[in-house]
Amino acid sequence: MNAPSPKVASTDLFDPVQLGPYTLSNRIVMAPLTRSRADDQGVPGELQATYYSQRASAGLIVSEATNISAQGKGYIRTPGIWTKEQVEGWKLTTKAVHDKGGKIFLQLWHVGRVSHPDIQPGGAIPVAPSAVRAENQQAYTYEGFKPLVTPRALETDEIPGIVKDYAHAAECAKEAGFDGVEIHSANGYLLQQFLSDKTNKRTDRYGGSIENRTRIVVEVVDAVTKVWDSKRVGIRLSPLTKFADIGDSNPEPVYLSLIEQINPYGLAYIHVIEGDTQGERQPAGGFDLQKLRHAFKGLYMANNNYTLDLALEARAKNLADLICFGRPFISNPDLVERLRTGAPLTPPDTNTFYAGDEKGYIDYPTMDRLAG
Ligand code: PHB
Repeated sequence: MNAPSPKVASTDLFDPVQLGPYTLSNRIVMAPLTRSRADDQGVPGELQATYYSQRASAGLIVSEATNISAQGKGYIRTPGIWTKEQVEGWKLTTKAVHDKGGKIFLQLWHVGRVSHPDIQPGGAIPVAPSAVRAENQQAYTYEGFKPLVTPRALETDEIPGIVKDYAHAAECAKEAGFDGVEIHSANGYLLQQFLSDKTNKRTDRYGGSIENRTRIVVEVVDAVTKVWDSKRVGIRLSPLTKFADIGDSNPEPVYLSLIEQINPYGLAYIHVIEGDTQGERQPAGGFDLQKLRHAFKGLYMANNNYTLDLALEARAKNLADLICFGRPFISNPDLVERLRTGAPLTPPDTNTFYAGDEKGYIDYPTMDRLAG
C-alpha cells in the first residue's frame, strides 16, 4: 500500500465503519450508476461481475438501479430482480464482490411514469400516481429517444400489488446473495412521484395530505423489512431534485414526516441526494438537509458531486457518515486508494456511460497498471 497523502492525515474517511451488522472497510460508497449493459431480459452476467468486483474496495457498493418488475422498467438494458434468470445472473456479481472482500446492496427501482409503451409489457401506458406527464424528458427505447407519454393513474386497488412486487424483488435480492437492499425513493421515479405534489393529484388514501402521499413509501419499507433485517435496508431520497420533472411546493414537512414514520423500522441509512441530481448542491428555495440527518435514527449517506475536499469537510464537520462517489468510480476502479494517496483521477468517457460492452466499463486501469 502506498503512503497516504498529507491531506488525509487526520480524516476517518478511510477507516472502517459499522453499518448494521457489517463493518465496512471505509466510509466511501460507490453510488448506484445506470450503465445499461444487461441483456434484453434484464439479466446481468460476467461483465457486471467483473465491473463490480473491480470496484470492491469501496466500503459499500450500491448497485445500479434495478427494476422490481417489468412494469417498473423505463430504460432499455437496465437489469431486473424479479425472475429466476436475473437472480442467477446477479449471483455472479455478489460472489465476485464477496470474493474480493466487498459489500454490495441492490437498489430496488420502479420508474413509474418515466417509461414508454415501447418498453412496457404489451405496449402498456406507464403507470403513475396521477396522469401527469414529465415534461422535457425522453425515454431511451430500442428505436432511440422518444418523448414520454402521459401516464395512467394507478387504481387504488393496484397499489398493494406494487408493494408486493417490492417484497418479491427484495426476496430475489436475498436469494441472489446481496448484503442488503436500498429502496429507491428519489430522482422523480415512482415513489417520489407519490411523495411530490407536482405529480400526485390523487384524492384517495394515497394522495392529498402528507400522511397520504407518504403512505406507499411507508408500506414499501414495511414490506421490505419483512423480508430483510431492517439493518440491511436503506432508502434513497432527493427532496430538492428537479430530475425527471419532479418537484414539491414544500418538501421539508413531507420528508420530516416520512423520516418520523420510518424511524420505528430501524433502517440502516438514508441516502440523500443533496440538491439537484447531478447539479446544484444548494438550489434556490431548498431547505437545510441536515434536518433530515438529525431527524433520522440511522446513518446518513451523502451524495451529489462529492470531491475529496468536500468529503473531508463533511467528515471533519460531521455532516455525513458515509459519502457516495458516482462518476469518479466509473473511470477509477481503485478510487478509494487514489483518494487516499492523492493520486490523479482518470476522467470518464461520457460516450460509454450507457449501453455498449466492455469498453468504458471494465477496461479502466488501476493506478499500478497506469504506472506500469
Ligand atoms: C438513469 O438511468 O439515468 C438514472 C437512474 C436512476 C437514477 C438516476 C438516473 O436515480
